[in-house]
Amino acid sequence: MKKILGISLMLMMVFALLTGCATTPAATAPAATEAAAATEAPAATAQAPAERTVIKFAAQADSTPATQAVVDAYNASQELYTVEWVDMTNDSGAMREQILTSMQAGSSDYDVLSMDVVWAGEFAAAGYIAPIDQLMQADGLKVSQFNAGSMTAGNYNAKQYTLPFFPDLGLLYFRKDIVSTEDAATLVSGKYTYADLQAMAEKYMGQGGTTDGIVFQAKLYEGLVCNLTEYTAGWTDVEGGLVALKAMVDSSASPADILNYSEGETHNSFIKGASVFARNWPYQWGMIASDGTISQDVVDVAPLPGGSTVGGWLLGINKNSVHQEGAWDFMKFVATDGQKIMSVQGGYLPGYNQMLTDADVIAANAMLSMPGFQNALATTISRPVSAHYSETSDAIMNAAHAYLSGEMELTAAVDAIKAALAN
Ligand code: GLC
Repeated sequence: MKKILGISLMLMMVFALLTGCATTPAATAPAATEAAAATEAPAATAQAPAERTVIKFAAQADSTPATQAVVDAYNASQELYTVEWVDMTNDSGAMREQILTSMQAGSSDYDVLSMDVVWAGEFAAAGYIAPIDQLMQADGLKVSQFNAGSMTAGNYNAKQYTLPFFPDLGLLYFRKDIVSTEDAATLVSGKYTYADLQAMAEKYMGQGGTTDGIVFQAKLYEGLVCNLTEYTAGWTDVEGGLVALKAMVDSSASPADILNYSEGETHNSFIKGASVFARNWPYQWGMIASDGTISQDVVDVAPLPGGSTVGGWLLGINKNSVHQEGAWDFMKFVATDGQKIMSVQGGYLPGYNQMLTDADVIAANAMLSMPGFQNALATTISRPVSAHYSETSDAIMNAAHAYLSGEMELTAAVDAIKAALAN
C-alpha cells in the first residue's frame, strides 16, 4: 500500500506542480447545524450567546504557528463550535501509543484525531475512526480533490476514513550562501551520493558562522526509519545504507550527539544558522520565516540521494465522539480552506490540490516552486509495507540505532532489518 502511496503522491504532485493543473474547487457546504448543540445548550438569558459545543482536536505539537492559526480561523468562522487543540507529542510512535490507549478504552475524549500516514490505516482497520464517504458525498467533496498518496493511506476496505492534514516528504536543506554554485546545482539535480554529501558537509562546515556540517534524524524513533529509508534507497540496499549512515554519524561534520537528534534538534540547528545542511520535512521552510535567524533567501532545497521518504498526517473522526457533526465540520475546514493557512503560515505542502495553484499559496510558499523541491517530489520512496507496521518499524530502528551506536555488528543489524522487512 505504501508503495502505491509513494508513487501516486509523486505522480499527482509532479503533474499538479509541473503542469499547473488545478482540480475542480470543492463546493463549500454551509456550516452544519448540530442538533446536540441546541439541545445541550443551557437556556440562558435571551441576550447571552448560545453556548458553543467544544470539539477536542488531538494533534501533535507544531513548531510553526500554522495549527494554532487554523484552529483560530475555524473558531472565528462560525458560532456553533469551539475547537480546543489537545497538544500532543510530535514523536509519532509515542503519539500513536497515547491515542491507542484512549481508543482501546472506547474513550470519546478526542473528537478529531491527527494520525501519521503509517498508522492511520491500522486505526481504520481497528474500527477506531468513522468512515467519511457519506459525509464527503453530502458536502460535494471528491477523493480526487486531495493529495492522492495521503488519501490512499487513509482508505481501508474501499472506505475513506481520513482527509489530509498535511502531506510530507524528506528534503535536503542547504545554505546557498555557503555552498558553491556548482555544488548547489549538483545537489538540486539529485545526482550525488551520501559520500558526496558527507564530503561537502566536511568541506563547508565552519563557514558562514556554522558549527556543524550536517544535521538529520538519528534518534531511536520513527524519524530514524524515515532517514534509513532514504539511505537504503527505499530498502534496496540495506547494508550500503547502514554503512553510509554510520559514516555520516561518525563524521566530524555531524554533531557528537546526532544519535539523539529528532526533527526538533535538526530545525533548531539549521534555522539558527548553525549547520550548512539539514535533512527535514517541508515545515522547516516555514520555521525559517517564523523563528529563524537566517532568512529564506540563503536557503535552497534538494532531493535526497536515494529518494525522499513520503510521510504526512491525516485527520479522522473518533468513532465514539459524541460530536460527529462538529468533528466533521472542523476536519473539513482544516482539509480544505485551512490548507492555505497551513501552507502560508507553516510552509506545509497543501493536501487540497486546488491550493497548489492558489496564487496566495504560491506567493507565500516559494519552496513549492523550487526545482529542488520538484525534483524531490519526483523521487519519493516509501517506508516498508507491512500489516504490522509498528512492529516492523520498532525492529528496524532498534537494530539500526544499536549499529550506529557501535553496540551491534553490521551483519547482525543487516540480518535483523532484513528479517523485519520480510515479516
Ligand atoms: C513527520 C512525517 C511522519 C513521520 C515523522 C517521523 O512527521 O510526516 O510521517 O513518521 O515525521 O518523525
